[in-house]
Order: sequence, then C-alpha cells, then structure tokens
Amino acid sequence: MAETVLITGGAGFIGRHLAAELLRRGYGVRVLDSLIDQVHGGRGAPEGLDPRVAFIDGDVRDAAAVARALDGAGSVVHLAAEVGVGQSMYAIDRYVSVNDHGTAVLFQRLIEAPVRRVVVASSMSVYGEGLYATQDGTTLADVARRPRRPGEPWDPLDGEGRPLRPRPTPESKQPALASVYALTKYMQERLTLTVAPAYGMEGVALRLWNAYGPGQALSNPYTGVLAIFASRLHNGQRPMIFEDGEQRRDFVHVADVAQAFALALEHPAAAGQVYNVGSGEDRTVREVARMLAAAMGREGIEPEVTGKARAGDIRHCIADIGKIRRELGYAPRRDFREGLAELAAWVAEQEAVDRVGEARRELEAKGLVA
Ligand code: UD1
Repeated sequence: MAETVLITGGAGFIGRHLAAELLRRGYGVRVLDSLIDQVHGGRGAPEGLDPRVAFIDGDVRDAAAVARALDGAGSVVHLAAEVGVGQSMYAIDRYVSVNDHGTAVLFQRLIEAPVRRVVVASSMSVYGEGLYATQDGTTLADVARRPRRPGEPWDPLDGEGRPLRPRPTPESKQPALASVYALTKYMQERLTLTVAPAYGMEGVALRLWNAYGPGQALSNPYTGVLAIFASRLHNGQRPMIFEDGEQRRDFVHVADVAQAFALALEHPAAAGQVYNVGSGEDRTVREVARMLAAAMGREGIEPEVTGKARAGDIRHCIADIGKIRRELGYAPRRDFREGLAELAAWVAEQEAVDRVGEARRELEAKGLVA
C-alpha cells in the first residue's frame, strides 16, 4: 500500500503545493494545520487543498492532535511554523513556542509511533550572512553585520573599507543565528537530526531560500517579500524596499520547493543530511520589485526605497545548490520570468488586503526598523 505522508502546516503555501506533488507521486496525504488567522485570514476551512487530502484541524503543540494526525502515517514533512523574520524579533514567545515547542511535541509523539522519515523545513536564515569574497578573491565565512552609521555603505566591508561580494553559500558554512526566527529554525533542524536516528527514523533538513509562487498569503504583511510587493502593487501602492534594495536573495518557485521535499522524502541518500534549496540564481530586492511590477502591468508604480533596515535581516545570502543537485538529482525547472508571469496572473484574480503599512508601523514603534 502507498505510504501516507503527514504534512504539518500543510494547509499553507508550500504545504498545498507539496500535497499536490505527493498525490501525483501516489502517496496518501494527511495535513495537520491550525489555520492561523495571520495566514488564513480567519477562514475556518483550508482553501486550495486537494480534496483527496485528509485534513485535521489542530495545533502542532497539541499532543492529542499530533497523535491523531500521526496514526497510520509512514513519513512526516514538518512545515508547521511561524515564518516572519521581522515579526520574530518582537513575537518572541509565539515564535519559540510554535516552532520549537511544536517540534518537541511532534518528536515526543514520534517516540511512541516512529515513522520511516521526517523531513523538516529549515531556512537559509540559519547561515546569517552568507559567504563573501574579498576583492582579491579570498573567501570569508565569518562576516557579521555590524550596526551601520548613517552614510556608510550597506554592504559588509573588508579591513580597508572595500565592499565584500556575496558568494554562493554551501551547507558547510557554520550557522550564525541573527534573528529569533533563525534560532528557532536551527533548533527545529537539530531536533530532527538528533532525535530521529535515536529512534530508528531518518531525519532530513532542507534549508529553503525565498519561496514564491501562486498561493502565497497575500494579506499577511509578514510573508515573503514577493507576496508583499504583489499585494502592494495589486492595490496600486508602492512596494516599500528596506535598506537600498541591493540586498541579494535566491527566489525559488514553490513547485521546485515541492520537488525538493519529494526527493528528500524518497531518496535513500538523503537520510541524516542537510540540503540547500534554491533556484541557483540570485537577484536583488530592487530588481525583483521592478520585474514584478512589469509582470503585473504596473511599471508606473515605482518602489519606495526607505533606506532603513529591519532588525534581524541579513544583507546577502545566496544559495549553492550543488549538493542537492548531485546527491538527490534536484533540478529547478521554473524560469524566474515565467514564475513572475504566473504569479501576476494569479494575483490579478485575488483580493489582497494591504496591511503592510500597519506592519511597518508596528516594527517602527518597537524600534525594529532603523
Ligand atoms: C524568508 C522567509 C523565511 C525563509 C527565508 C528563507 C518570509 C517572511 N520569510 O526570509 O521564512 O526561511 O526567506 O530564505 O517568507 N523586504 C523589503 N520590503 C518588504 C519586505 C521585505 O524590502 O516589504 C526585504 C527584506 O528587508 C529582506 C528581503 O526583502 O532584505 C527579503 O525579505 P523576506 O521576504 O522577509 O525574506 P527573508 O528575510 O529572506
């Protein structure tokens, strides 16, 4: 009989795409999700989840709900988490509770009912700043962001004040945890890789870069930057760019993220491993703001560059995806322009409440944007 996979947090953006991918591959899929208001806008039932998915409404910190969800499951993909880097810096108890206590409750139950494999969604944010190269080509692995004085460049500098250039970051870079979110993600990852093998299970951690695509929570002002910009543009508002907009990330289409999770569940070589998941291409935030505006037919709406930084943010981190390509045969398939066109077409059909101003005021009032 086909294996049943439990996806915690599976009613969210990545979970829905993954559920569809796993059904295509012949798995049974079960989802445990508490449908938090910030993501699901107060809806009492999951939206956009394939009807063949067995849905369990419950919190990952609720041991009884977790026990029900695990009953008969052969593997687990653990996605249930709070995901905003900025918000994590003030909603500390909530982030630590959902992300870390939630993972602890899950593993406490898995001791009684072990599964074949647990794949956890970790994050590139565990690296802190990515690798950098000096102007003579030396690689630096220990760059940290220092408080910036007005007028100073945003990029990290070498000893002589010359800007360092970001380099693709492999899994071997030591973590440098720069936000509450990053701390909680590292804890989730380590719990999985420590506890799973102690009970005969296989643990795998995927460090995701910036996932985007149709279905992202447009009205959640703490979601990823592309969804936030899409919601602003859709409402005729200017995207707000932190810093100078030249910070670099790797934007990976959610279908490619789903592919990575499926491989991480299936491939024998993945047991006990950590993998980066990105597209292998990097872009600046300013560049994606313009490209998205063009894809949405809103070229006339110029982004507002705020010149302020959000506490907990890193400057640059770009992905080295060599390991997952080599070991699991992962191959990102989505072209970024096509992905943006698809996102734009989807957004055009949506209603998005723009709460970005509210969220920014909240961060500012707490001194977390400066
Ligand atoms: C994001 C994810 C995190 C994931 C990580 C993996 C969210 C909320 N966070 O973090 O869960 O683990 O990717 O890479 O999805 N920015 C603006 N204007 C805005 C919002 C953001 O300029 O309105 C900037 C930020 O300052 C940052 C960049 O865009 O420099 C990316 O921000 P964000 O989308 O929040 O992603 P990460 O912090 O990289």
